[in-house]
Amino acid sequence: VKNLTSMGLRVEGDKVFILDQEALPHKEIWLESKTPDDMINYIKALKIRGAPLIGVAAAVALAQFVETRFANINILSSSETNEILKMAYRLREARPTAVNLMAAVDRVILKQSLENLSPEQIIKTAEEIFEEDITLCENIGNHGAGVIENGDSVLTHCNAGGLATAGIGTAVGVIRRAFEQGKKIHVYVDETRPLLQGGRLTAWELHKLQIPFTLICDNMASMLMKQGKVQKIIVGSDRIASNGDFANKTGTYSVAVSASHHKVPFYVAAPMTTVDWNCKSGDEIPIEERHSKEVIFPSSSHDYKVYNPAFDVTPHELVTGYILDRGFFKNWNQVPKSLK
Ligand code: MRU
Repeated sequence: VKNLTSMGLRVEGDKVFILDQEALPHKEIWLESKTPDDMINYIKALKIRGAPLIGVAAAVALAQFVETRFANINILSSSETNEILKMAYRLREARPTAVNLMAAVDRVILKQSLENLSPEQIIKTAEEIFEEDITLCENIGNHGAGVIENGDSVLTHCNAGGLATAGIGTAVGVIRRAFEQGKKIHVYVDETRPLLQGGRLTAWELHKLQIPFTLICDNMASMLMKQGKVQKIIVGSDRIASNGDFANKTGTYSVAVSASHHKVPFYVAAPMTTVDWNCKSGDEIPIEERHSKEVIFPSSSHDYKVYNPAFDVTPHELVTGYILDRGFFKNWNQVPKSLK
């Protein structure tokens, strides 16, 4: 596999490294992923995370697998193909909500003609997915920067930045482009309970980019809107259904409801790889439920009953505009109905 580098994932020949996002911002540790199983464990533990990036990571893990196992083979035998298929299905199931994961694995393996599956084709497609995500982010940033005006304070939830993609990010990419255009802006970062992707990761990124920001607890967002302190809200997405409803990190829905009440424009930024045309509405998006210890840790060792859905769904009525790699769309109906 050719050398490829992003904020959270590095490919160096047949070696793959991920930046341990569980350890950020305290420690910057690069972990080696030697097998698809390593990658599956890293994805499940959120050591690598963010919808576009887990798709890219799964593709890279498959490419590395065929490169190390079947280096000099042109066309794979059926038992070799089956071995790869097993890995592909397991990677696909590492997390359920972000459709980018399934879309990337399908593109590398399951949508190829299985009789003629070649390591070369698998590696080429994985490289393509990595490089394409960089471009998709650039396009999102360019199409979205216009929604941010000079002097705006922008609120974002979770981390939809360079750590969540192979490029500059989606929501954070838009903020970054507006900032680079010389607009004077400020960012309010929701800390994002329970795992603090905002407080740990978005804050880490914005600090590095020297974009002025203020960290807030999730439950302060409504009050800031009421006080007129937030002019725009931009979030990312893990899956957009074919009617424009979308899933994103738990807490996004509350932000959207509040934005509608306070008449603050609410935008979602995402690449087309996040769109699932097979999902009719948000009701069909599978929502990952995670372990209770993420919610009660570290304040209690008791075994309380906990409900921990990692994502929620925001209905399309609450979205002011979709910032996609294809352009900016006020209404979901205007989005072209094709994947590429
Ligand atoms: O559980 P996570 O941290 O993977 O959740 C990530 C999010 O919800 C992001 O907002 C989403 O993936 C968009 S990333 C460009």
